[in-house]
Amino acid sequence: MKKIIAAISLCLILFSLNLSGQTRKLIIPGEVWPDTDGNHINAHGGGILYYDGIYYWFGEARLPKGETDRTKYGVGCYSSKDLLNWKNEGLSLRVTNDTSSLLQAGCIIERPKVLYNKKTGKFIMWFHHELKGQGYRAALTGVAVSDKVTGPYQYLRSLRPNAGVWPKNFPEGYKKQKVVESDLKSGTEEWRKAIKEGLFVRRDFKGGQMARDMTLFVDRDGTAYHIHSSEENMTLHFSELTDDYLDFTGKYYRVLPGESNEAPALFYAKGKYFMFTSGTTGWKPNPGRVSSADEITGPWTFIGNPCRGSVEENNTTFSSQSTFVLQVPGRKNAFIFMGDRWIPSDLANSRHIWLPVEWENDTPVIKWYPEWDLRNLK
Ligand code: GAL
Repeated sequence: MKKIIAAISLCLILFSLNLSGQTRKLIIPGEVWPDTDGNHINAHGGGILYYDGIYYWFGEARLPKGETDRTKYGVGCYSSKDLLNWKNEGLSLRVTNDTSSLLQAGCIIERPKVLYNKKTGKFIMWFHHELKGQGYRAALTGVAVSDKVTGPYQYLRSLRPNAGVWPKNFPEGYKKQKVVESDLKSGTEEWRKAIKEGLFVRRDFKGGQMARDMTLFVDRDGTAYHIHSSEENMTLHFSELTDDYLDFTGKYYRVLPGESNEAPALFYAKGKYFMFTSGTTGWKPNPGRVSSADEITGPWTFIGNPCRGSVEENNTTFSSQSTFVLQVPGRKNAFIFMGDRWIPSDLANSRHIWLPVEWENDTPVIKWYPEWDLRNLK
């Protein structure tokens, strides 16, 4: 009997070790990805910061199904030494019960990204922020700061960037146009042309430009950019951040005007800047896109769909939406595409789609692997 109990206990220990993810050796896109406690990683629309030899994964910590305590919502943080086994470091930014705060429970926090600022020694988090009870109308970006990488991050403010300034690449003639939204029927050629020629930039000039899906990118010269879907999600804005990464300088560029790009994820490889984006179909996946540029500030050129799978897989980006590209530290050409396979009815359970970035001549492409080994990254 004792032997049987011992054998069962051993089995249970081995089983729980396996569940806790300790034994994870491969990236398995689309499956539950248990952290070291055995819970699916709750960090969506996220990104990774490599700091002091450790990877930190920040992402949307969605309210788990059945959980009613809304303050368990915010930005999740996980740490790892190998990109496979992740320890939950808790919420790095948490919504509050204080109803005078814009960060009150019920607001929406999406696509958080964190940078380390060498000059100030601080960690800076930016995120897409929508206000309680207002759907996606506010289109703000929020900023928070911490002395410690895992947080807690102190919420500073939320804003619409670049109020009262024109984009650097905005022709003089566009500034003076008089056409307004009510003159046009949406969806028509004239409407699209007016958007390309800055209809919404002029509309939002005074109050600041809309900021929804976002990412952060530090250029080779150390200049950081906040990259966000603006102009009713029709145009991306690349907005320069101040040296301390806590504010906007007012220098910004319109990218792919009127082309409806969301979910930007940037990287620099082979002497060029590349950007994965999606179209704008909400939680529903759509065909992936990749664009490139010689200078970060553009001009950007659309290349095509980076996916190399079946028609269905290409039309849905392998059932995912881009969020970040991780350059594996110390590896010149090793990049990982990170995306989200959203489950709108249970966002916390949305799956992580990590795939290697591969190359077709000098164009990045993504292929599906049901599981793959990080050591095979070229
Ligand atoms: C997507 C966006 C997500 C989320 C969603 C809401 O287009 O990329 O981050 O905002 O819409 O419908």
